[in-house]
Amino acid sequence: MRLDKLLTHMGMGTRKEIKKQIKAKQVLVNGELALDPGLHVYPSRDTIEVQGEVIEYREYIYLMLNKPQGFLSATEDASERVVIDLLDPKYHSFDPFPVGRLDKDTEGLLLLTNNGKLAHQLLAPKKHVPKTYYALIEGVVTEADVDAFARGVTLEDGYRTMPGQLKILRSGPESEIELTIYEGKYHQVKRMFEAVSKRVTFLKRLTMGPLVLDPQLKPGEWRELTEEEIGQLY
Ligand code: URA
Repeated sequence: MRLDKLLTHMGMGTRKEIKKQIKAKQVLVNGELALDPGLHVYPSRDTIEVQGEVIEYREYIYLMLNKPQGFLSATEDASERVVIDLLDPKYHSFDPFPVGRLDKDTEGLLLLTNNGKLAHQLLAPKKHVPKTYYALIEGVVTEADVDAFARGVTLEDGYRTMPGQLKILRSGPESEIELTIYEGKYHQVKRMFEAVSKRVTFLKRLTMGPLVLDPQLKPGEWRELTEEEIGQLY
């Protein structure tokens, strides 16, 4: 891989900026001054330093975002804010994208990565990756709803959902629930409650497969996954 390509991928600057740094003798490869931006380097073997700092090369990044309301689960949009806008620009060079979608008004766990294969595995309908949501519901959620969700409900377009596990945390004119589902149809949680004549007024995703939203992350905040969390995804 070209030295300048590796350094842009690692978010060290644009090709032009990196060329300048190389010219200014700020880049070392295996302890020796690198003067050619096109120098061929082996990321796993060569030690690359910029201004005395060793650059640890990696191909993939994995970020856990607590998605706030008001952002689209997309990489770009002509008029709306997107989740990628929330990240430190140093991650932009990795081209991360959201694994699946949360609605604009939904909060919570969203994985961002540039590992397409992993994203594919997590989203494959056949894998039935469980997702747990916390929600506020307008209407009294009852044991009859728990039973209906456990059997699967029929959405307005005739689709019958797989069984979901509904847990009532508080039942009243406004109810509080947790729901685990094993598929990801468009607006699924909202439509499941519509099927039992209730309305979701707040929705937040708590888990996706083995990943659990870090309670330390406020809406809009993100962090890299730990090695352990990455390992659990495979
Ligand atoms: N179900 C919904 O209705 N919306 C989401 O954002 C996620 C699941």
